[in-house]
Amino acid sequence: MKRLHENSPDAELMTITFEGEQLQVPAGETVLASVMAAGARYNRTSPISGSERSGYCQMGVCFECLMEIDGIPNQQACAIQVRDGMVVNRQNGKKVLANG
Ligand code: FES
Repeated sequence: MKRLHENSPDAELMTITFEGEQLQVPAGETVLASVMAAGARYNRTSPISGSERSGYCQMGVCFECLMEIDGIPNQQACAIQVRDGMVVNRQNGKKVLANG
């Protein structure tokens, strides 16, 4: 299990699963920041070219950070805080919401 809290040793820790790997991350951290700190080079692939993409603005504007979080696609990972037990996966290509 990777521990990603060396810069905040007093923080409450949450365990999330990213692409099958458990990460221990500080509470209050965003999903995108957590997976980037774990070394992820990208969080999704383009539905057009298949190229690897990663979050850019980290403030909810660009939508480059879309990920599948707890089985729900098209989630803005830069705007969602980690929750204990959260399961996060890269979003590959275009996804459709279940009710959309
Ligand atoms: S990184 Fe731009 S909206 Fe999330």
